[in-house]
Amino acid sequence: MTRIILNGCNGKMGQAITKVAAASESVSIVAGLDINDCLPNTYPVFTNPEKCGIEADVIVDFSHPSALDLLLDFAVKRNMPVVVATTGLSKEQKQKLVDISTKIPVFFSANMSLGINLLIELAKKAAKVLDGNFDIEIVEQHHNQKIDAPSGTALAIADGINEVIENTAEYVYDRHSVRRKRQKNEIGLHSVRGGTIVGKHNVIFAGQDEIIEISHEASSKEVFAVGAVKAAVFMKDRPCGYYSMSDLISAV
Ligand SMILES: NC(=O)c1ccc[n+]([C@@H]2O[C@H](COP(=O)([O-])OP(=O)(O)OC[C@H]3O[C@@H](n4cnc5c(N)ncnc54)[C@H](O)[C@@H]3O)[C@@H](O)[C@H]2O)c1
Repeated sequence: MTRIILNGCNGKMGQAITKVAAASESVSIVAGLDINDCLPNTYPVFTNPEKCGIEADVIVDFSHPSALDLLLDFAVKRNMPVVVATTGLSKEQKQKLVDISTKIPVFFSANMSLGINLLIELAKKAAKVLDGNFDIEIVEQHHNQKIDAPSGTALAIADGINEVIENTAEYVYDRHSVRRKRQKNEIGLHSVRGGTIVGKHNVIFAGQDEIIEISHEASSKEVFAVGAVKAAVFMKDRPCGYYSMSDLISAV
């Protein structure tokens, strides 16, 4: 049994994890941390980490970048692994996670969906095997409330592929502004916005007379909660170091 302290427990993701954990036999949430103690949870909630003395194996964080410093102090003081899923961290905060991983085990992923991370690994493998002979285009679809485009996940897929081809790719966003033929080294990124689409990503490898498509569609936020719970179990009793979804997938 992996005992979790959940930071941001009263947020949308915190409650999704609470639901996933309640249905799981391998994890249990033993305490929550949140500046907003507004919900009736089955575990005790602390508005200040320093007041939480409850024994646990892993801290999971889906909260806000402003929570990070206090949380990392708490994790180091308690010598506990931390799974950070909060997005929007600054460059300095991301570096802090790397630096602190010499003191405690740190897991960070801006996308906790196991499926998306598997898609990234498969796309990397495809780019390696196809060796520059196929044109690569990424199409992402999200709901009409999303502000940023392309999605951070589409960029993470492009970055994963680019890493494999030694960072030679040029990212081209949509194609309305430049009238020219597609260049061989391009990765095209395209965004669709509409309705309540939770998130869909298609990676297209288009070659001579054949097309390979890898796609992933999320239909609820629960996929991130399931991934985070798997990450928590993976991090229990790990040695110090910096871990990502790629380590979790390789360990399967
Ligand atoms: N990595 C992933 O796969 C993934 C997936 C979904 C969401 N997220 C990220 O997780 C974070 C939370 O998302 P959400 O949709 O649950 O947001 P939310 O706004 O619904 O919940 C955030 C919770 O954090 C609490 N909080 C805010 N500041 C805090 C602080 N300083 N200390 C303690 N608690 C604090 C809030 O009171 C709230 O309960 C966001 O950064 C979001 O982008 C990551």
